[in-house]
Amino acid sequence: RVTAFSGAVVGKGNYRHFMEKELHEHPIAIGDTLQQYIDAGTRVVGRPPLPFDPATLPRLTLSACGSAFLVAQVARYWMEALARLPTDCDVASELRYRDPPLTPGGAAMLISQSGETADNLAALAMLRAGGQSTVSLVNVPESSMARQSDAALLTVAGPEISVASTKAFTAQLSVMACLAINFARARGTIDEAEEARLTAALLEVPEHAARLMERGGEIESVAAEVAGARDVLYLARGSLFPIAMEGALKLKELSYIHAEGYAAGEMKHGPIALIDPSVPVIALCPSGPLFEKTASNLQEAAARGGRIIAFTDAAGAPALRRFAERVVELPTVDPFVAPILHAIPVQMLAYHVAVLKGTDVDQPRNLAKAVTVE
Ligand code: G6P
Repeated sequence: RVTAFSGAVVGKGNYRHFMEKELHEHPIAIGDTLQQYIDAGTRVVGRPPLPFDPATLPRLTLSACGSAFLVAQVARYWMEALARLPTDCDVASELRYRDPPLTPGGAAMLISQSGETADNLAALAMLRAGGQSTVSLVNVPESSMARQSDAALLTVAGPEISVASTKAFTAQLSVMACLAINFARARGTIDEAEEARLTAALLEVPEHAARLMERGGEIESVAAEVAGARDVLYLARGSLFPIAMEGALKLKELSYIHAEGYAAGEMKHGPIALIDPSVPVIALCPSGPLFEKTASNLQEAAARGGRIIAFTDAAGAPALRRFAERVVELPTVDPFVAPILHAIPVQMLAYHVAVLKGTDVDQPRNLAKAVTVE
């Protein structure tokens, strides 16, 4: 039993690890979070309490650390493509010392599960001093970041005990997706029909996530193929690219296997030199506008002996089966929400590899849940 930030006592229930329990809480964390941002009756994303007007915002800066930084990177794809909002995205430890020219009238969002990460708190102070409107997105309402920013938005993931972030990650993505829809509407870059389609896709995520929970056995068998590797490459394009980096981050921190997440199109500029039959290549490749491009990158890797393990959907599976060693078929969803759904199996995979390797899943060596020192 562990005492969470809020003082509540949290147990593992029937699960072997907190991480296993928290992985199973993805559907509820996403659902509870969406409920705060989408009106149940009208199914419209409400206007969140923000200290700026998204319609006229000239620039958004996103700051975060660890997995939350990967959420910020997905959010940048959404904010730019949907809301046509120029968006910067940086790790807090760089941003705080980078001295970037901040746009007058601009806003900054700090994304953090704990709301206590020292580098992100310092970035917050720097951004405030630079005249930016600041909004924190935290899972702990009474956290320092929530108190020190102009406004605080919440994820409703409940206490997260395992050092590696899981349900807070998909809850953060859910909030950023709602904000992207809301900003796009405010800025007139999507029409009502598109807004309804994107919101409907988002509201279906908890159910799809719940069905993914039943796929543990399948992911475990993929884990058995990965556990013996020394290096693993994760490839994807577009908004799935940060999820490839999340897969690699989770694998290295939990199982101590060297892993890299790469933009699939960038593979030819370096990582392709690593590829041989001992390096599993994990691809996130759902059908959609970038499918053909990603599939052709994967085929190049396969031609060099790479063992491709592809996560895709029903429409993408047949083409990938021609050269992939393994194809894991996920539910077919709108490309907009694909990053949220793909995060779940890559986190499950890292969990199962760690269990197979016998590492300390909830408390990996040298890592801390909240890094409150620089
Ligand atoms: C640590 C944790 C990660 C987390 C990161 C940022 O490194 O081990 O799981 O993503 O800090 O934490 P935050 O609380 O700011 O989201």
